[in-house]
Amino acid sequence: MGFKEKLEAAKESFAFDDFLLIPNFTTVNPAEANTSTKVAGIRLAIPILSAAMDTVTESSMAIELARRGGLGVVHRNFTIEEQVSEVTRVKRAESVIIQDVKTIPPGITLREIRDLSRELSFSTFPVVDNGKLVGIISNRDVQFERDETKKASELMTKELITAAEGTPLEKVTELMHKNRIEKVPVMKGERLVGIITVRDILSRKEYPQATRDKEGRLMVAAATGLDMKRVEALVKAEADLIVIDTAHGHNTAVVEFTRKVKKEFGCKVCAGNISTPEAAKDLIAAGADSLKVGVGPGSICTTRVVAGVGVAQLTAVANVADVAGDISVIADGGIRNSADVAKAIAIGANAVMVGNLLAGTDEAPGEIVVRDNKKYKRYRGMGSRKAVADRYFQEQSKFVPEGVEGLVPYKGRVKDILNSLVGGLRSSMGYTGAKNLKEMQQKARLIKITSAGVIESAPHDLDYVEESE
Ligand code: XMP
Repeated sequence: MGFKEKLEAAKESFAFDDFLLIPNFTTVNPAEANTSTKVAGIRLAIPILSAAMDTVTESSMAIELARRGGLGVVHRNFTIEEQVSEVTRVKRAESVIIQDVKTIPPGITLREIRDLSRELSFSTFPVVDNGKLVGIISNRDVQFERDETKKASELMTKELITAAEGTPLEKVTELMHKNRIEKVPVMKGERLVGIITVRDILSRKEYPQATRDKEGRLMVAAATGLDMKRVEALVKAEADLIVIDTAHGHNTAVVEFTRKVKKEFGCKVCAGNISTPEAAKDLIAAGADSLKVGVGPGSICTTRVVAGVGVAQLTAVANVADVAGDISVIADGGIRNSADVAKAIAIGANAVMVGNLLAGTDEAPGEIVVRDNKKYKRYRGMGSRKAVADRYFQEQSKFVPEGVEGLVPYKGRVKDILNSLVGGLRSSMGYTGAKNLKEMQQKARLIKITSAGVIESAPHDLDYVEESE
């Protein structure tokens, strides 16, 4: 093919703003629309993942996302140990039964108990002597005690209220209420198999939508580069989804790594990032359970400016979704509002991944920065110079950054952002007549708009626009 022919054969690719969704006849009340989805077989009540970026997702963000029915992907700008510890925090945040209970012997001193408590950030320890539960130490047994040489056996509560394994949660709640206790050891015969805490029972009621595993623990995903040691550690820490996080997923090394991880660990794997059907097919053949789409659409990305490479995001999502079949598709990058979420879903995504929209919240890492009396938080691309330097612990002299860093407005709590994203998606489902996301993909019709249409679509001809919440 000649060069001129090559130019003429080039297809257009489209961004979110190039299209609108056409209103359909509807019987759907937005409040009743079902926004649940599946990503790599994990059921999510809302189709939103938080980006694996060091200014977005550590344990606080992942806990909040999971509580609200989404999923957080813990970033990898960490040592393996640090990342594992963040994953463990999420898994421990609220399990109805804490199973790997840390027990202590009766001879241990209060000083040692306090050290342990600081190290593990919890304060209740069953006391076990020769395999037998003999007492329990919690904060209220020790909080006013000054003599740190006292032994666990002198301080512990000996009258134990326990529940047999399998006791229904309502019964356990009753037991707690009647005896005014907050923690109940769970027994299998004489053997301690776990602890149930009142906080976790309450939280389960408070977050009925939460993304939980079989044992009631919050679910969490974790990112990795091509590093088997990291994957092994994350799988051991019970991360629920391993996200192979690369700028160019259609690459022998990434395809082979996906195959190897699936073969060695059999864990759920999301691979990416990609933007073409060929890439999707190769990663699916390697065993990926989910595909992450987006080469250069992100708000801090400069891949397209640096390398001139990418596919506009709406087309990239459609490219992959068309060949993905049952494999879930995540639209990653460039989501600016709920309309983009709706369009990404309508064109085949099962969920979206957001960075910028969450980076300004309390749950994102980093402090609030004040400039000209306005509050901001820092947000940076994982391919930006500083993020890469932190990852490899040195400046990379020949390295060409493919991301930038900047400030995003401070936005308060994650739950408010999620509410407005999901509220907008529901509204879109009402307009398109879709009861659920699958129906949205079947029913949504798109219409192309011109640059005049883009201008018409946003607020215009006002001197001052009040920010709507
Ligand atoms: P948003 O638009 O939500 O996008 O800010 C977040 C996504 O952007 C990707 N990402 C990068 N892409 N250079 C890039 O080209 C970077 O430095 C970079 N950092 C993050 C990533 O897919 C993320 O989820």
